[in-house]
Amino acid sequence: MTKIDVLLGLQWGDEGKGKIVDVLTPAYDVIARFQGGPNAGHTLEFGGMKHVLHIIPSGIFHQDKINLIGNGVLIEPNIFRQEIDALAEKGVDATKNLYISKKAHLILPSHRMMDAANEQAKGSDKIGSTLKGIGPAYTDKVARTGLRVGDTLAPDFLQRYDALKRMHLRMALTLGFDVEQFRIDGMNLEEYEQQWMKSLETLKRFRFVSSEYFVNQCLRDGKRVLAEGAQAMMLDIDFGTYPFVTSSNTITAGVCTGLGVAPSSIGKVMGITKAYCTRVGAGPFPTQLDDETGHRLCEVGHEYGATTGRPRRCGWIDIPALRYACMINGVTELYVTKPDVMNDFETVKMCTAYKIGKRTTDEIPYEYNTAPIEPVLTSYAGWRHSLLGITEYNDLPEKLKEYLAAIERETGVPIAAVSISPDRRDVLFKQVQ
Ligand code: IMP
Repeated sequence: MTKIDVLLGLQWGDEGKGKIVDVLTPAYDVIARFQGGPNAGHTLEFGGMKHVLHIIPSGIFHQDKINLIGNGVLIEPNIFRQEIDALAEKGVDATKNLYISKKAHLILPSHRMMDAANEQAKGSDKIGSTLKGIGPAYTDKVARTGLRVGDTLAPDFLQRYDALKRMHLRMALTLGFDVEQFRIDGMNLEEYEQQWMKSLETLKRFRFVSSEYFVNQCLRDGKRVLAEGAQAMMLDIDFGTYPFVTSSNTITAGVCTGLGVAPSSIGKVMGITKAYCTRVGAGPFPTQLDDETGHRLCEVGHEYGATTGRPRRCGWIDIPALRYACMINGVTELYVTKPDVMNDFETVKMCTAYKIGKRTTDEIPYEYNTAPIEPVLTSYAGWRHSLLGITEYNDLPEKLKEYLAAIERETGVPIAAVSISPDRRDVLFKQVQ
C-alpha cells in the first residue's frame, strides 16, 4: 500500500502550486483535487504558453496520468465546460483521464447570486470573495440541502434543483438583493441557467466515481497519488484568518475528508511558499507593504489574480504564519517560489515575530484580525543578481542561499526545491532527484 503525498500552499494562496504540481506530476500516477472549486486559479506555463486551471487538476496536460476531482471539491458546470473547451483547443482531450467524484457538490447559478448577495449585505466587512459561489455551495453542503454530481443522473434532479433555487431567491429577497439586475458574465440568472443546464451534458460525458473507493484502490495497487491543494493554509475555514477565509479545509486534514483516505495514508507533505508574501481579497496581512517596495513586488511578480485579475497585496515573508502552517499541516518539505522577483532588491526582509502592543509573540494570535500587529523584521542583504540560466541549486547566489537557509532554520523544515522563473524547467531541486 502506498501513501498519498500532499502539496499545498502555506500562505494566502497563489504560491505557484499549479506549476510545482506540474513539475512533480511525472513521479505520480494520479493527481487529485480535494477541496475548493473555481475560486482557484492554477497557472502553468510551458512551451511559451500560459494555462490557467480552476477545477481540473494540474496533471491534465500529462495524458498518461489520471486526474481526479474528489468529493470535497465544488463543480460549477459552466466553468467546468469552459475549461474542457479551452483544453480541447490545445489538443487535450480530458474525457480520457479525468474522473469525478459522484459526491462532489454542484455550484448552482443561484449559489453565485447568493455569493454576491451575501457580500453586498456585508457592506464594508466584505470578504473579497471571488464570487464563484463557494461559500453558499458549501453552506448548502453542510446544511444538507446541496446537490451533488451523482444527483444529476436522478429522475427528480430538476425538481430538486428548482426547490434549491427557489430557496436562494427567497433568501436574496430577504437580503434586499436586486435579482433582476444581477449578471454573471453579462447574463441574467435565467440566461446563465440555460447555459448551466447545457453544460451538465458536458459534465455527464465524464466518468463519475466513488472517489473514496477509487483512491484507496489506487493506493492498494501501489499507484502514486498526489493530492493537490487549492487556496492555502491561511485561508482555511478553521485555522485561517477567519472570517476572511474560504469555506473549506485547505489543510492536510482536508485530504482525508475531501478524498476519503485515512490519516495514516498521508505520506509526504510538500508546502509551497513564495520568497515573499501576497494576499488577494480582504483580511489581515501583517507584513503588507503599502509603499514603493510593495508596488515593485506586485509589478515585477505580476501579482494579479489568475481568477479575478485583482492586484494582490504584497509584503515580506511571514515566518510566524509559515511556522504555523508547517505545524498544522505536518509539512515535511518546502518549495520556495519567486525569489527572482527580488533580484534587484538591496535588502530583503523577513518577519520573525509580531509585536502586539507591548507584547512580542511568534504565534498567530486569536486577535489576528482586530489587534494592530507590527512585524518584527530581520534584514538580509539582497543577492542583486539575475537567476536566469542557473540550473543547479548550488549555483544560486550565496546571498540567496543564505536567505533560503534562514527560511529553513526559522521553520525547521528543509527546502526541497526553489522555483526561479514561471517556466516548468526552472525548478531547482536541492538534492538531485
Ligand atoms: P471565496 O473562496 O471565493 O469565497 O473567497 C474567500 C477569500 O479567499 C477571498 O479573500 C479570496 O480572494 C480568497 N481566495 C479564494 N480562492 C483563492 C485562491 O485560489 N487564491 C488566493 N486567494 C483565494
